[in-house]
Amino acid sequence: MGVYSFGSLNLDLVIQAPHLPQPGETLMGSQFQTLSGGKGANQAVAAARLGATTRLVGRVGSDDFGRQLLESVQGAGVDVAGVTVDDQMHTGLALITVATGGATPGENQIVLAAGSNGRVGQGEVDYLAHALGSDPGAHWLLVQLEVPLGSVVAAATVAKGRGATVILDPAPVPVAGGAALESLWPWVDILTPNEGEAQGLLGRSWQGPQEALAAAQALGDRTGIGTIIITRGSQGIVCVRGSQTWILDPFPVQTVDTTAAGDAFNGGLAVALGEGQPWDEALRWAMAAGALATTQRGAQDALPDRSAVERLLRG
Ligand code: RIB
Repeated sequence: MGVYSFGSLNLDLVIQAPHLPQPGETLMGSQFQTLSGGKGANQAVAAARLGATTRLVGRVGSDDFGRQLLESVQGAGVDVAGVTVDDQMHTGLALITVATGGATPGENQIVLAAGSNGRVGQGEVDYLAHALGSDPGAHWLLVQLEVPLGSVVAAATVAKGRGATVILDPAPVPVAGGAALESLWPWVDILTPNEGEAQGLLGRSWQGPQEALAAAQALGDRTGIGTIIITRGSQGIVCVRGSQTWILDPFPVQTVDTTAAGDAFNGGLAVALGEGQPWDEALRWAMAAGALATTQRGAQDALPDRSAVERLLRG
């Protein structure tokens, strides 16, 4: 079983703030940190830390940030042979504010500068095709939307053609909403938006688990994707898989920073399904990984290992 992540690497510039800023508000924050992130890299690290053989395909700049990111991802046991070093563009950056208080402690706001992520293209798709073709066994491809959409579609097409299962974290949602992603839907097996992203894809909002479940069904109808999981943070998850549905409560944990919780969920889901866990157990496994990621600060630094997930599941 092999997990592939095709996507972004970002240097995260993180400041803790008393609450998330309002438009036009200047806030005094604290604890500035530069940390390793990017949804593509985070999901690869999540899967590797949970025990899967994992490869990352993406692009960094030829700068100190790029080197820091490659070291971090490689240090977690991820194969980075598929990460191009680009001497024409700087490494991707994410400005992250994390609230320490206010209405939503632990919640974040993220603004991205794509940098080299915006130049992920045919070279990376060709690498993925070659790697999948020379790697026997079942494959899981994790994709997100922090690299150009055309490249994500090409990567998912190639992976499906080689029998892989494709898991899409639709973040960030394009400004045009779900309509911009029509060309991607046919290649996706499992869609994992958080609640805000699901609302962006459907162009409407809702409250409560039953309405979230109905929204997951509507997303399945609209996209044709067989499995939709909406992750709802401290409200748990809802899932629609064919005619089956789940509304699952969250694990009770002390949340300090929600950054990369979705990435931990996606990496955990790929690992659990790749190991052949029954669907119900795989969902709980992924939820445990996501919950644990919120108990530590940062993205890759917060991703749990296998023993932590198993401890939380045992209770
Ligand atoms: O999902 C969290 C990630 O989103 C951060 O690490 C940041 O880089 C952005 O990509």
